[in-house]
Amino acid sequence: MDKVHIALGDNSYDILIGNNLPIAELMKEALPKTKDLLIVSNETIAPLYLEPLMASLTNQGFKVKSCILKDGECYKTVESYMQIMTALLEDGFGRDCCLVALGGGVVGDITGFAASSYQRGVAFVQIPTTLLAMVDSSVGGKTAINHPMGKNMIGAFYQPKIVIADLDFLKTLPEREIAAGMAEVIKYGVILDEEFFTYLEQAQGTAKLDLAYVVKRCCEWKAYVVSQDEKEKGMRALLNYGHTFGHAIEVGMGFGVYLHGEAVAVGMVVAAYVAAKTNKGLSLEQYNRIKNILPYYNLPYAIPKELTGADFISHMRHDKKVKLGKINYVLPESIGKSAVFNDCSDQDISNLIDELKNTQD
Ligand code: NAD
Ligand code: GLY
Repeated sequence: MDKVHIALGDNSYDILIGNNLPIAELMKEALPKTKDLLIVSNETIAPLYLEPLMASLTNQGFKVKSCILKDGECYKTVESYMQIMTALLEDGFGRDCCLVALGGGVVGDITGFAASSYQRGVAFVQIPTTLLAMVDSSVGGKTAINHPMGKNMIGAFYQPKIVIADLDFLKTLPEREIAAGMAEVIKYGVILDEEFFTYLEQAQGTAKLDLAYVVKRCCEWKAYVVSQDEKEKGMRALLNYGHTFGHAIEVGMGFGVYLHGEAVAVGMVVAAYVAAKTNKGLSLEQYNRIKNILPYYNLPYAIPKELTGADFISHMRHDKKVKLGKINYVLPESIGKSAVFNDCSDQDISNLIDELKNTQD
């Protein structure tokens, strides 16, 4: 088992990574005084993993209840949040309880937000079951639900007590979801770690990857970045590489058409093209490496035909990352080095997107 520590003073915690992990025992060690647990999961994951987990936690002396949400990004809502609140209140959970998120990023984000606000804050644990959640969303304490007017618009920074990433969960994860998780993996290579990018490039697909190493490397980077900048005042913004353009694709195409990771993959290519064309240091050859790695991992790189440059601008103007009227873009300066820029005009970005789209037709 690998362990990555995330140093945040009183809110520090470990990320445990491995196969066939003794989850209940690890939770007992991490939460020696806790008795009451509410496991939050969804209708897809619960039939696969809930029962054995509840049994082993009960064997460790925990009193365990569950709350099963509907599956999907479209259920990352205030209604699902209220479902958790109702379950907690109906069973008389007190401030000493702990919520357990058993699922991907959707379950993790809702559960974390519920934990941050139930009785002004109770403990929570992340047990990520998707690759994306293992390498990104379960670590770092961003929690949220969506509002009909925007993704992740209601939330809090709130850290879990422990993250337990058991790679065996990935055995039942559909290929398309593995690919979506790989977009976030590739992201770390582009923004922070050329050696890691080259490793992913040379493997040419998940079959040749050491997944335990991949998850650990990503968690090490995420732990490093979050330890420096928990509340995204500076460096943490780099983790949004590909996301500003990606969110525009998710919204523009309608939620669910592109998975989050698929939209981020296209967004990374757009951001790299903008970087190469606006003299941020990235060469066209490096741009091509970023574009060409994606098909190895079954990820798209082409801008959807339905969206114009102007559509992107109109969606990005509603993003959380707009500050003082300027859209902030995370752009790579080379592979392994990136920075935030706000010197690109809407018109220039719109033109570059249309230009890139024309080369892709
Ligand atoms: P997800 O949670 O929707 O899971 C993807 C699908 O896989 C779902 O249908 C789920 O039921 C299913 N699934 C999960 N684990 C499974 C397993 N082991 N076997 C079979 N099926 C399984 O999607 P995701 O990609 O994990 O997360 C996306 C969400 O994460 C988005 O809402 C995004 O905003 C959020 N996110 C948050 C952060 C953060 O820092 N908090 C970072 C990145 C993304
Ligand atoms: N997924 C981006 C972040 O955690 O900051």
